Amino acid sequence: TWTMVNIVEEQVEAIQAAIGPAGRAICGLSGGVDSAVAAALVQRAIGDRLTCVYVDHGLMRQGETEQIERDFVAATGADLVVVDAEERFLSALAGVVEPEEKRKIIGREFIRVFEQAQADVVAREPGAVDFLVQGTLYPDVVESGGGTGASTIKSHHNVGGLPDDIEFTLVEPLRTLFKDEVRLVGEQLGLPADIVWRHPFPGPGLGIRIIGAVDRERLDILRAADAIAREELTRAGLDRGIWQFPVVLLADVRSVGVQGDGRTYGHPVVLRPVTSEDAMTADWARVPYEVLETISTRITNEVDEINRVTLDITSKPPGTIEWE
Ligand code: XMP
Repeated sequence: TWTMVNIVEEQVEAIQAAIGPAGRAICGLSGGVDSAVAAALVQRAIGDRLTCVYVDHGLMRQGETEQIERDFVAATGADLVVVDAEERFLSALAGVVEPEEKRKIIGREFIRVFEQAQADVVAREPGAVDFLVQGTLYPDVVESGGGTGASTIKSHHNVGGLPDDIEFTLVEPLRTLFKDEVRLVGEQLGLPADIVWRHPFPGPGLGIRIIGAVDRERLDILRAADAIAREELTRAGLDRGIWQFPVVLLADVRSVGVQGDGRTYGHPVVLRPVTSEDAMTADWARVPYEVLETISTRITNEVDEINRVTLDITSKPPGTIEWE
């Protein structure tokens, strides 16, 4: 629509004015629609003066890193640097259970890794990189209390969790937009449907979907269960009607089960499918019983450590979408 064309043109001009004729920028790609659209906008505004950095923090879902390397680069032709930081994040998170502490650690490590990536990009070609592009949306700003006087509900890693010693000037071209508007901008920019219609995924990734301490073994268990839930939702043709479908691993909880002749003592997962317009409020999604049944059967059959599947039927409020 003409409105989205206007938003794109307006933002491209605003970005050019902010960054200047010779300025260079770095954009962190999270794999989600927000950072992809923000990066594509800045790419349109300043071309190859933008370098995209994807930090693989080891908290991504199955196959996601490969999809970013392949699909995003194919769609935009962007200059992409991939940083493998899994070990760094997992050692920083070792033993940490408290959700806000996890968020702060992940936010802090992100910035540190970007500073290192910036140094590497600068070393590649002379000239400073002063701008950091972020896909911050209007709801992120509101929920972190930015500019509204509202108190912090959760410190989103890209707003409230920033450390004090940040060295970049932030460029946040989506700061006034809601998610549905961002998707329209993405379409306007020619990004593929796989990227534009992807479910939102939190910056801290699966780190805040493991209730308990995060380690690689628990991540692999959750990744396997999450992949099954996503696959079955897509197979049923329901992925577009659902806003998000977090799968949460209750890593510190065990319950008794029986499988074949044997007693099991495994972990539960929680299915958290929700419908929403903008993530400010949400309702639990009425996923058909047959689809839930297939997901439950497959997860308990295919993921050894999980012997129980539960469904979260809480709206937001009072629940949040994520469990942490
Ligand atoms: P909640 O759990 O607060 O989540 O209802 C609202 C929306 O925000 C996503 N979310 C995040 N996104 N960084 C992000 O970029 C974060 O730290 C973060 N925490 C939650 C969540 O997935 C949902 O879409």
